[in-house]
Amino acid sequence: MLTQDNYLDLIENYLAQTDFPAEPELLYTPISYSLAGGGKRLRPVLLLLSHALFSEETQQALPAAAAVEMFHNFTLLHDDIMDHALLRRGKPSVYAKWGENVAILSGDAMMIVAYQLLCRVQSPRLPQVLSVFNQTALEVCEGQQYDMDFENRQKVSVVEYMHMIELKTSVLLAGAVVMGALLGGASEEDCRALRRFAIELGLAFQLQDDLLDSYGDERLGKAIGGDILEGKKTYLMVTAMSRADEAQREVLRSTHLDATLTDAEKVARVKAVYDMLDVPHLTEQQIGLRFERALAQLDAVDAPAERIASLRAYAESLMGRQK
Ligand code: IPE
Ligand code: IPE
Ligand code: MG
Ligand code: MG
Ligand code: MG
Repeated sequence: MLTQDNYLDLIENYLAQTDFPAEPELLYTPISYSLAGGGKRLRPVLLLLSHALFSEETQQALPAAAAVEMFHNFTLLHDDIMDHALLRRGKPSVYAKWGENVAILSGDAMMIVAYQLLCRVQSPRLPQVLSVFNQTALEVCEGQQYDMDFENRQKVSVVEYMHMIELKTSVLLAGAVVMGALLGGASEEDCRALRRFAIELGLAFQLQDDLLDSYGDERLGKAIGGDILEGKKTYLMVTAMSRADEAQREVLRSTHLDATLTDAEKVARVKAVYDMLDVPHLTEQQIGLRFERALAQLDAVDAPAERIASLRAYAESLMGRQK
């Protein structure tokens, strides 16, 4: 049985072998830059671990794993434009380094390359895998649109927030594990249980991303406080709004728009309200709850215990992440 590090190496090697033409330079260089940028490779590792529950032929799943990572990196190129994010993985985002137009077009090319990688999959189940991938990709776009819609809305409920992050983040984790399981020969029932696992894991993961965006440090590799400055309806903001008195609500609503404040002052002001309302603690509780629900789904998966334990251990390692 391969270790987590073996899987990471396999993914890095496979991605490194994807050659891009030298020209046009401004189309392809940003793609290599993005892929070399030190991502966690969470989605392809999940795909391979899920595949390994049912099969030892890891090579068979590698193109799909690479496709999912390529797609993820494409979403980040566009996401950073939408979120005006200048920093990604501790370096200038593609959008900051080369501008909006380059980030749009290189992102588009990455999505196409993701499909090229998927076309390399040798399996009678390729049509099913493609269908999962397509549904996933559309849902990510839906989630990203809700994320932006919510910036302009005063009131967003926790239920609406959860639906939004399920679409923008969870479905890609779920798509990855289902694609891996399908290629490994899993039954429909196992695919369904693994999907539920990854949906809940994705919720925990995005909740944690929201928490780190305000309370993390430079290890995150993104500008701390970015969500506050953009007026994002994160779990922290939605929870704070539901608990705030009128004065606090006004601070939460208007601080990011106040031109008399520096960015650091805006972030500090909003975080002071979060702290008063116990929001970091409540977010951690919700992360824990979702994570427990994720793990509980693994009981229903019919695969060797030590392989399920690997998947579980990997999920656990994510929960302690700082980046
Ligand atoms: C960032 O994903 C986007 C979210 C869904 C929060 P990751 O945190 O997996 O990003 P990398 O690929 O490891 O940088
Ligand atoms: C991103 O959510 C989800 C997708 C890229 C689809 P965020 O906007 O919170 O991700 P980060 O924080 O920029 O990585
Ligand atoms: Mg973002
Ligand atoms: Mg975003
Ligand atoms: Mg974020």
